[in-house]
Amino acid sequence: MMYPRDLIARLMRGGRSFEKPALYVAAARELGEEMWFFSLADVDWKRGTARGWNGVDPVWQRRPIPEVILNRTRTTRPSARRAILRLKRMGKLVRNERNVVSKLTIHRILSRDESLHPHLPETASLSSRAVAELLGRNRSLYLKPSRASVGNGIIRISKAADGTYAEVNRLGRTIRRRVGANGIVRLIGKRRRRSYLVQQGIPLMKYDGRPVDFRVSIQKGEDGRWQYTGMVGKVARKRAVVTNLHCGGQSMKASALFEAWGWDASAVEARVAALGLRVAEALERSLPGISDLGLDIALDDAAHPWFIEANFRDLRITFRDAGERETWASTFRTPVRHAVYLLRAKNGGAAT
Ligand SMILES: Nc1ncnc2c1ncn2[C@@H]1O[C@H](COP(=O)(O)OP(=O)(O)OP(=O)(O)O)[C@@H](O)[C@H]1O
Ligand SMILES: [Mg+2]
Repeated sequence: MMYPRDLIARLMRGGRSFEKPALYVAAARELGEEMWFFSLADVDWKRGTARGWNGVDPVWQRRPIPEVILNRTRTTRPSARRAILRLKRMGKLVRNERNVVSKLTIHRILSRDESLHPHLPETASLSSRAVAELLGRNRSLYLKPSRASVGNGIIRISKAADGTYAEVNRLGRTIRRRVGANGIVRLIGKRRRRSYLVQQGIPLMKYDGRPVDFRVSIQKGEDGRWQYTGMVGKVARKRAVVTNLHCGGQSMKASALFEAWGWDASAVEARVAALGLRVAEALERSLPGISDLGLDIALDDAAHPWFIEANFRDLRITFRDAGERETWASTFRTPVRHAVYLLRAKNGGAAT
């Protein structure tokens, strides 16, 4: 497991984190393998070793660099990219190598698969023209930073009888005001404009008057194939335009939501899972090596699923917060089982 060094140090001291090394360790042991937590900063390239942690004893030790490596760090820096390339040249398998990809790139990749079109909100990079076009066809729009924002800076534009309104989300607070059609792009400062996208607003299902979407875990498992691990609801805070837990959203069992809406829970879940698997396969064609996804998927009042975004380092916590402990544990166990599958295929000489 590749982690940032400070995270390893914190976990070793018993510090709090959404990461649960004990779950990874247990999953590896069940299959007679060992987990090793290390950071790129602690690799000794000459000796082919890495200083790291076994997830149990509170000491740093040195071991050979593992053969199969799951990346849980944010590796955007060129130095990190080079180090990963070097690991691959040594014959190591690195999974989730690329885990920061812009929302616009994701949209372009998925658009190549025509069967996904009914599930993709119309999306374009932000410009006055794109806003005018999309606003002509949709009742509401979302303006979003193309890169990770955990909900910050997201704006919903909606048409009402007395004009057009913008609702700006900042740290879970929502500020609503009227905007003229030409003022929409100017809501975003000039320098940030280039990094924004504009997207068709999806009329999300509501619970208690609050919009809901879902976190869907799609992971590669012990047979090397994509599997659906589970899904959980995220209910926005009152009057919010995003459901992110960071912004006051609340997680809830998907089954409870489906029941409240009078839906056939297993049929809807199967539909969402099927979309998740197709999204994963489509993404993998352009982003080889991905194996652990947390997708945001929304449902409209026809129970039709819409793809909102893909997270490559799902924090998994949404599942535990909703009381889905077994699914939560499974989101940790599945990547380890997959790594063991890769390790054995590698040692057996099979191509992976
Ligand atoms: N097109 C849309 N229609 C309706 N609701 C949307 C749309 N886009 C985003 N939302 C709402 O805003 C939330 C946050 O948007 P999104 O997941 O795309 O970005 P993010 O979570 O801020 O990004 P990141 O995970 O990269 O930090 C979604 O969970 C959803 O509730
Ligand atoms: Mg999100």
